[in-house]
Amino acid sequence: MQMRYIDDNLSNKTILITGGAGFIGSNLALYFQNNHPDAKVVVLDSFRSGEKLSNGNLKSFGHFKNLIGFDGEIISGDINDKELLFNLELNYKFDYIFHEAAISDTTALEQDLMIRTNVNAYKDLLDLAIKHSANMIYASSAATYGNAASPQKVGEEAPQNVYGFSKLTMDNLSREYIEKSDISIVGLRYFNVYGEREYFKNTTASMILQFGHQILSGKNPRLFEDSDKILRDFIYIEDVIQANIKAMNPKRSGIYNVGTGRARSFQDIVDILQHELGTDLRCEYIKNPFIGSYQFHTEADIALTKEMLGYEPKFEMEDGIKAYVKEIKRVYEEEVK
Ligand SMILES: NC(=O)c1ccc[n+]([C@@H]2O[C@H](COP(=O)([O-])OP(=O)(O)OC[C@H]3O[C@@H](n4cnc5c(N)ncnc54)[C@H](O)[C@@H]3O)[C@@H](O)[C@H]2O)c1
Repeated sequence: MQMRYIDDNLSNKTILITGGAGFIGSNLALYFQNNHPDAKVVVLDSFRSGEKLSNGNLKSFGHFKNLIGFDGEIISGDINDKELLFNLELNYKFDYIFHEAAISDTTALEQDLMIRTNVNAYKDLLDLAIKHSANMIYASSAATYGNAASPQKVGEEAPQNVYGFSKLTMDNLSREYIEKSDISIVGLRYFNVYGEREYFKNTTASMILQFGHQILSGKNPRLFEDSDKILRDFIYIEDVIQANIKAMNPKRSGIYNVGTGRARSFQDIVDILQHELGTDLRCEYIKNPFIGSYQFHTEADIALTKEMLGYEPKFEMEDGIKAYVKEIKRVYEEEVK
């Protein structure tokens, strides 16, 4: 993760990263540390506790190991805590807010918690951004599209779950704030992200990591039937970081897709991983229990993202997996085995 995407001098700038102990947020924190060491970076995250959702997954996935090597400021706190946000408003002057904190589990069923955390707390952070005249760059999601036809375009949403609905509501709120305020606001609709520091998302980590670990353990990769026809726009973390950094200077505030623009199949993942790992395990095919509530074809239309942010994805899935495979092995050796 060594590329630098902007030449701006960020010394004397203060950057808040919510969800900074999670997958994407921690990569952003380390990006700034490595490329703009003069910037002051503040990470806010609730970190993991033992608390679980009704689907058995953790309520928050933040993990200290994602931030090993990060020497900026770290605050453990909840974005739903209004007093904490008020203290941030009083004690800091943020220039940029990268808002990644969320209930990121797309299968979570707690509608109250989802809307409060993803939507209501975001509104409070937008108000904070206005008070500080900070640029807001926040995480939206391809889940806003549900089963909308490919290629997915902003304006053609059909969320299928409360997670997708919460992200669409964030986008609608953002449009209102773009109208009524002077700050720059950019929503990034990430497609399926994979890469370094996702391991602590447990079972919600990408299928690239999960298949990688199945293969390393010598098990036959288990795919849904017709996996060569289940297609998603898988995007490597480095391209997601590029989009975030370019979103600091957009031509126009707005909501933009962040994908590669090319759909790939789950079968492709396993084939590329087997090639990289030098294995030839036989795949097992099982019935897909999610038919009816599953995205079968996602592919981002990225024309506007290119035009408004100057974003150019660099990683085809072959390149992303090649860059990631060493880390997949390290995590397997140090965390899984
Ligand atoms: N990874 C993907 O493929 C993907 C795709 C689309 C959108 N997104 C969005 O991108 C953002 C980052 O996702 P990620 O993959 O890094 O997930 P993640 O779960 O690793 O990161 C989210 C972080 O937010 C923290 N958090 C949760 N609730 C909080 C709260 N109330 N207060 C403070 N912190 C809280 C968690 O501890 C976690 O560290 C999320 O908004 C997610 O919805 C991710």
